[in-house]
Amino acid sequence: MTRIDPLEVNMGANTLSRQIRRISEIAVAPAFSVRAIRRLTMALAVSRECTSVQYQNFPPLEEKHLDNPRLYSNRTHLISAMRSMFEGGVIAEVGVAEGDFSEYLLNELRPRKFVAFDLFTMHESRSWVTGANGERVSTKVLLNNMTHLNYYKSKFGDRGDQVSTEIGMSHVNLAKYPDKFFDVIYIDADHTYEGVKQDADVAKAKLADNGIIVFDDYIMFSHVEGARRGVVQAVNELVVCEDWRVCGFALEKNLYYNIAIRKQSGSPLAT
Ligand SMILES: C[S@@+](CC[C@H](N)C(=O)[O-])C[C@H]1O[C@@H](n2cnc3c(N)ncnc32)[C@H](O)[C@@H]1O
Repeated sequence: MTRIDPLEVNMGANTLSRQIRRISEIAVAPAFSVRAIRRLTMALAVSRECTSVQYQNFPPLEEKHLDNPRLYSNRTHLISAMRSMFEGGVIAEVGVAEGDFSEYLLNELRPRKFVAFDLFTMHESRSWVTGANGERVSTKVLLNNMTHLNYYKSKFGDRGDQVSTEIGMSHVNLAKYPDKFFDVIYIDADHTYEGVKQDADVAKAKLADNGIIVFDDYIMFSHVEGARRGVVQAVNELVVCEDWRVCGFALEKNLYYNIAIRKQSGSPLAT
């Protein structure tokens, strides 16, 4: 049986208390606020991540990797700019959640085929963070008391064969499609380095020659969730190590950037 040493517990508490004072400069009261704990957790996470090998060991983008990229205020404008190139094409959204962005992609790019990849397990969580402001909403409310899959299917039921769903791990399901099948692949599922890397590794083979992959959350740390993101590392590795080009960049609210990349140089995206 493990014995808990009261001295060790006390020392742990003292260290925590010192770290609170040192890192977040928050006065330590006997009952400190939830906000203080959140700030401390994030500060500790950042300091831990910033010294990890993976965090530091990824290639930076250089001028030669930029293919006259246009800057957009948000991702909807970035997608709209692709319309003349990909209207009527084949689109994948990897990670669809409740389907709000799927709706935008469908309305804007009017694909002949749209494939939605997701675990479709949202209904198993009691609440879900929506948007970049971190608002938590009950999944019962969000999904109208349906399962995730039923909600998504009912939302796009009137579109018939245009929309299909792939349930499960995105990289596994994406791999089932023929090479060069998709014109646009929007990647927004598992944002860990390993998750994004797996999706990107499969996506690059499934993309048509002149196609574009867009990655959501091209950031290293989500200040809303207080969690690291591996998108920058995975995207930079793909671009630098396999000679891809950045062709678009969207700022997004709260700077949850989107980055668009393609294999070959091409004409600039529209404004
Ligand atoms: C950030 S949400 C997607 C948001 C959506 N693209 C939008 O912009 O509205 C992430 C989604 O990815 C799904 N997901 C997470 N990891 C996944 C994985 N490994 N395979 C498939 N889906 C995954 C989650 O179930 C969730 O619905």
